[in-house]
Amino acid sequence: MTKIVTVLGTRPEIVKLSPVLPLLDERVDHTIVHTGQHYSYAMDAVFFEELGLRAPDHALAAGSASHGEQSARILARLEPVILDVRPDAVLVQGDTNSTLAGALCAAKLGIPVVHLEAGGRSFDRFMPEELNRIIVDHIAVLLLAADAVALRNLRREGLPDDRIHVIGSTAIDAVLNARARARASSVLERLGLTAGDYLAVTVHRARNTAPEILPGILEALERLARQHTVVFPVHPRTLAAMRQQGLAMPPAVTATEPLGYLDTLKLVGDARALLTDSGGLQEESAVLTTPTLILRFETEWEYLVDAGVHKLIGNTRESILEGAARWLTPEALAESRATPAPIVSGAARKAADAIVASASWTR
Ligand code: UD1
Repeated sequence: MTKIVTVLGTRPEIVKLSPVLPLLDERVDHTIVHTGQHYSYAMDAVFFEELGLRAPDHALAAGSASHGEQSARILARLEPVILDVRPDAVLVQGDTNSTLAGALCAAKLGIPVVHLEAGGRSFDRFMPEELNRIIVDHIAVLLLAADAVALRNLRREGLPDDRIHVIGSTAIDAVLNARARARASSVLERLGLTAGDYLAVTVHRARNTAPEILPGILEALERLARQHTVVFPVHPRTLAAMRQQGLAMPPAVTATEPLGYLDTLKLVGDARALLTDSGGLQEESAVLTTPTLILRFETEWEYLVDAGVHKLIGNTRESILEGAARWLTPEALAESRATPAPIVSGAARKAADAIVASASWTR
């Protein structure tokens, strides 16, 4: 039987792999390794619980550290597991340090790497994620790309067509699977919110938590909170950056701990609009038809911006306030909600099919 090791370690990997893992459990001899890059209940276990995932077979407990230290710990702790299991292929997803270390470890041992969400590019080499995904794409033998933009990016970098399968995005399958259960979430009552009457905000990118940028974002939120109810589940990186930079949350903003998956879908789905720098949330909000303003000047999910579903408004105080003034009017919001998102489901099954077929011919 084909043997596959899946390496995951952070919140977005757990979510985006969630529809693929049970399919691999059914069809291959499947080992799940958790790197431990994310480890607190709110960033990790709650997702396993809510997505009904089985426990990983190995926990590497790498934890938080600098990029080098974190990646090195994962590499060193994963190697004996891969040597012991000797899989036909190692599956990694996305662009985190767990993705990079998982792929590098396997490639160095001569084990074929499968990269789910291949070809996403922001063309911003300052982003740690951009380096991670470029490296992983170039050492992978099977590139599972979400869309035509990702395919074009991979081709431009000289990656051959016979390695690439365009399958759609598994984040879409994850939302579609969980959407009905998310409707029952009590998050609005817990936070004292009324559906359709608040803005949901998330900020966690390294660039946006840097001292040159974060104060401007918080000032813009303070201004927006004069007109709107603003709700902000705060990522631990952002909280740590605020403490380090001596920044306070504007009192009019409702700040919460990071939320689980079902609460997040409910919060985003019922928001008047979402302001975010998250990659995963851009896809989730598209499925939930929530108008979305992206707090960046570029995105890996260009197809949603090209389709007129999401707007790139940047991350400076001025650009955020300008973007909000333009896109949060009742007319702009109604138009955004009425614009159909080019959403395709079924990526998880296609991913599993490609992995099973490929693992048998690479042996
Ligand atoms: C990582 C990914 C990013 C992804 C994000 C999702 C990289 C380079 N970046 O960024 O692509 O969008 O995950 O959340 O891999 N912390 C906790 N509890 C946890 C985990 C982290 O408190 O369970 C805190 C620690 O202070 C840590 C900080 O959050 O130093 C950042 O965590 P880290 O995993 O280094 O990066 P993320 O910002 O989460």
